[in-house]
Amino acid sequence: PDLTAFAFGLPKAELHLHLEGTLEPELKFELAARNGIDLPEKTVEEVKATYNFTDLTSFLQVYYPAMRVLVTADDFHDLAWAYLQRAAEQGVVHVEMFFDPQAHTSRGVPFETLISGYRRAAVRAQDELGISAELILCFLRDFSAEYAMATLMEALPYKQWIVGVGLDSDERDNPPSKFAAVFARAKAEGFFLTMHCDIDQVGSIENIRQVIEEIGVDRIDHGTNIVENDALVELVKAKGLGLTTCPVSNSFVTEQMKSDEIVDLMHRGVRVMINSDDPAYFGAYVADNYVALAEQAGLGAADLAQLAINSFEASWLPAGRREAYV
Ligand code: ADE
Ligand code: ZN
Repeated sequence: PDLTAFAFGLPKAELHLHLEGTLEPELKFELAARNGIDLPEKTVEEVKATYNFTDLTSFLQVYYPAMRVLVTADDFHDLAWAYLQRAAEQGVVHVEMFFDPQAHTSRGVPFETLISGYRRAAVRAQDELGISAELILCFLRDFSAEYAMATLMEALPYKQWIVGVGLDSDERDNPPSKFAAVFARAKAEGFFLTMHCDIDQVGSIENIRQVIEEIGVDRIDHGTNIVENDALVELVKAKGLGLTTCPVSNSFVTEQMKSDEIVDLMHRGVRVMINSDDPAYFGAYVADNYVALAEQAGLGAADLAQLAINSFEASWLPAGRREAYV
């Protein structure tokens, strides 16, 4: 049996996907031309040659400047719609997509412009592809807590379009506790909560403890460093928290997929699942990540099916719809 075909055909939820990380060079050129923006790179190869990341910081230094080609609501729609069509080909039937409003409002794009473009693509995915698509608003942790709170206030009129809030960008010197008040308010407003605990960051174990005990998250993005700490593994299991792991992304920011850690956690009963993170930059969409992990760790169909089941169990689908998939 062909494991690649199995991985693509497996119905799955994607829970760790940055919409801004789905900007392929071809669309970048199209949007730049549309908006009269001059890019330093002239060919797809030249753009890809800048993707020589060695860690999270060097990735983010390439990632944010690329976003300036996104200007109008149509641009945001076209970005999300291109991703959703790829997702359909990868067996995705439900997706909870991160977006970084501050990467756009900080350069003058109104919140309403970006959210209305993204929302239009999400509704279209349900109608035309049969994919349920939700949005998760991420705060940039290297900006202030005050700016995050102001962004949350700006988002409240669009509450029906946003399933949860997250935290991303550079983790160093920006611990979860910095955003305790913002996340407490978001929880009171009825949002689900998640936060990035990136791979092998300084203070990773303490940050994971904070997201569970002080913030009270519903999920953790990455978080695989819990393998070093049996007490945290037990806590994550007891609370049924999902860990949204991203093997190919890991291999860019740490030189390893962390496949042993992911598989170990799965076999210990932790709700880990597989995601693509920033697929345009790491060259792998979600089914490609299933295949890469399977090859690296020698997994078979039963393990991949378990990972897909975990993706629905850790999702924020309403209870009745979640059970329909598992
Ligand atoms: N923004 C986009 N991808 C990210 C990641 N993997 N970690 C932190 N911030 C991000
Ligand atoms: Zn991420």
